[in-house]
Amino acid sequence: MKLPVSLFVFALLFSFLLATSAHTHEDFLQCLTLHSGNDSISKVIYTSSNSSYSSVLESSIRNTRFSTPSTPKPLVIVTPLGVSQIQEILSCAQKHGMQVRVRSGGHDYEGLSYVSPVPFAILDMINLRNISVDVENSFAWVQSGATLGELYYKIAEQSKTLGFPAGVCPTIGVGGHFSGGGYGTILRKYGLAADNVIDAHLIDVRGRFLDRKSMGEDLFWAIRGGGGASFGVIVAWKIKLVPVPSTVTVFTVNKNLEQNATKLLHRWQYVADKFDKDLFIRVLLTGVNSSQEGKKTVQAAFNSLYLGGKDKLLPLMQESFPELGLVSEDCTEMSWIQSILYFAGFPSGQSLDVLLNRTLTVISYKAKSDYVENPIPEAGLEGIWQRFYEKEAESAVLILSPYGGRMSEISESAIPFPHRAGNIYKIQYLVYWAEEGTEATERHVNWIRRLYAYMAPYVSKSPREAYINYRDLDIGANNEGNTSYRQASIWGTKYFKNNFKRLVHVKTVFDPTNFFRNEQSIPPISH
Ligand code: FDA
Repeated sequence: MKLPVSLFVFALLFSFLLATSAHTHEDFLQCLTLHSGNDSISKVIYTSSNSSYSSVLESSIRNTRFSTPSTPKPLVIVTPLGVSQIQEILSCAQKHGMQVRVRSGGHDYEGLSYVSPVPFAILDMINLRNISVDVENSFAWVQSGATLGELYYKIAEQSKTLGFPAGVCPTIGVGGHFSGGGYGTILRKYGLAADNVIDAHLIDVRGRFLDRKSMGEDLFWAIRGGGGASFGVIVAWKIKLVPVPSTVTVFTVNKNLEQNATKLLHRWQYVADKFDKDLFIRVLLTGVNSSQEGKKTVQAAFNSLYLGGKDKLLPLMQESFPELGLVSEDCTEMSWIQSILYFAGFPSGQSLDVLLNRTLTVISYKAKSDYVENPIPEAGLEGIWQRFYEKEAESAVLILSPYGGRMSEISESAIPFPHRAGNIYKIQYLVYWAEEGTEATERHVNWIRRLYAYMAPYVSKSPREAYINYRDLDIGANNEGNTSYRQASIWGTKYFKNNFKRLVHVKTVFDPTNFFRNEQSIPPISH
């Protein structure tokens, strides 16, 4: 039987690519074992022939959209035990042309820490998760593989009045989170996690182990919000802990459309960013069944943390947002660490030990983000409600997080994260689905894209801003190989506005050969 010429060429090319990647892979492995001087590194290398390969790979995959039989898998996973092993991995990978994806908590929304279109290895930071807290001087050193839950737990173990302004989900890794900004319920008081980083340890493309002083202020600036994956491997962060009162208050008040949710949400947009800095009220929008048989409605959950007792919160609410009708029975007083459990969705009375659990329910999802600078009129909100009645929105949620307070005081260029004064709130759009297969994926992804298109008149423009920690490849991506400044600035200015230029400059100085790269890494300027 004769093969058509095009098929023959393809088969030849495919076998060549397979042979090349097998070569790369074997040479890379050989290099690792040779250079380590002893066999210690072999204990932390996983290839598909190793029985633990799949469990190590899946241990921190959070999105089943990137865990299908057709998802490209790494040739090797290495879970280094220390700095010298990271240096060996980087050196061997460069020598043998192996692309490396660094993974800390694996929460990347587009799976960029564990999926790549070219043959690749995962450098998984899971074994590097030491945390040391210095209560007296209010700082901590935390290694990148630690989760936020582990960090919060360690802080609470030593102090009831110190906290840290980072994200809501305890299984997030600090490696990716801090390098993309990182926000949670106390951002209006203290800004982002990255705003509170005071030193870092990083291994650069040349294998140098650098701290703030030796890396210099440009690189130290870039890794606090510019996305970790472009500049090196961040091993640890030194963070400034912040004071929290021994009693805080939480509440969640649910209102559906029959209970005036549209008017309340409309009003919320005028006050949410102007409240006292101690008060954070976000809104979660979901489609729910109405009390009228067979009808759907939209629920707005006003979900809040106040840094103080309810004796102070109630008069504050009466003064600034009386329309919500908050009463004492809606409020629960607790410690700051208990509020972490509350926002993570754990029932009251749960042991703090749940913060140490790294497992998370995995499901398929797609997310996007937007920034709102002017209140959306009621008619605009009603258009959102219509989209919640569509079948694909059964498990969709919009999370509206207020800015203002400390967020407006920090300048747009202090760190690469530029979304500061002028933003009332950020929207995170999320759609989840349990069905398998590409048809279900397409339907749900199309739903969120249609909603995003509908929102265009109501959100920031030129650029339409987005949050890098809510990674979204729809807004633009690099080519594999060389990407021009112009092409990368399509997505780069949405995440970083004018800071994109400085990030490109830092990248050009510290990683001119573009070793650390992915679909949305900062490109160096080629000379
Ligand atoms: P992951 O390991 O996937 O890394 C993300 C990116 O950083 C990748 O490009 C990776 O290569 C790179 N990277 C990771 N470690 C690195 C290292 N040590 N050195 C260099 N580069 C490194 N965000 C938020 O601000 N507030 C919130 O409340 C939430 N909540 C939330 C809940 C859930 C369920 C998810 C899935 C996500 C969030 N996020 C969030 C978003 C989260 O902040 C974002 O996905 C972070 O980048 C995750 O960091 P990980 O280390 O877990 O991811």
